[in-house]
Amino acid sequence: MTRLEVKNLKKTFTVHTQGSVEVKGFEDINFKLKQGEFLSLFGPSGAGKSSILKTLYRTYNTTSGEINFYKDNGSIVNISNSTESEILNLRKNDLGYVSQFLQILPRISAVDVVATELIQKGESEEVAKEKAKEMLSFLNIKEELFNISPLTFSGGEQQRVNIAKGIIAPKSVLLLDEPTASLDMTNTNKVIDKLLEIKKQGVTMVGIFHDMDCMKRISDKIYDMKEKKYANNY
Ligand SMILES: Nc1ncnc2c1ncn2[C@@H]1O[C@H](COP(=O)(O)OP(=O)(O)O)[C@@H](O)[C@H]1O
Ligand SMILES: [Mg+2]
Repeated sequence: MTRLEVKNLKKTFTVHTQGSVEVKGFEDINFKLKQGEFLSLFGPSGAGKSSILKTLYRTYNTTSGEINFYKDNGSIVNISNSTESEILNLRKNDLGYVSQFLQILPRISAVDVVATELIQKGESEEVAKEKAKEMLSFLNIKEELFNISPLTFSGGEQQRVNIAKGIIAPKSVLLLDEPTASLDMTNTNKVIDKLLEIKKQGVTMVGIFHDMDCMKRISDKIYDMKEKKYANNY
């Protein structure tokens, strides 16, 4: 079943400092994903990878083209031109975004940051906290940090809390911007293992990786931003 289809997608930024400067984000982007497929965006810094994820999430408006999201109930949402309330609905139930950096409120513990995602889906507080702890332990977060705000954590620890939060109650499509960027090999592999697990459960993902081995291990498709097509053998 098709889950996500991107057609002739283009983004141009108009920067309103010192007159109006037009900055190219990306253009001519086309790909299609089935349920449970993982696509990686591959290309040099500045190629527009993060901007594509932000456009898919509608943090950025589309300049031209289409983003069709196929929901389980058979309806199609064109993310490029749907209403704000349709987008909020989609984000609530179907579309998740794991940003490069953790963005959370102060004074909320690591366990609560992660457990909240499950509680919002109807899980009891007790079970949600238990599952959150399991996930944090799996990702090598020390137990003594569980009840502390992640704002004081190291970059790598924050990133793992961010991943835990993003995948503990996964939406049907997840957008991942360099989820393993500041992790060592052991923790990178743990994150990839978890992503493979939710992929098996049918979660569709679009991701960006620095590390080629990582990218190849998880990807069904690799979209080459320079060639504007899937990379050979993908
Ligand atoms: N909010 C923005 N306003 C203006 N230009 C932006 C904005 N976001 C991204 N860009 C520009 O779009 C281009 C692509 O950036 P980005 O998507 O971050 O690339 P990548 O993630 O592949 O490194 C860059 O030239 C960047 O300066
Ligand atoms: Mg980027």
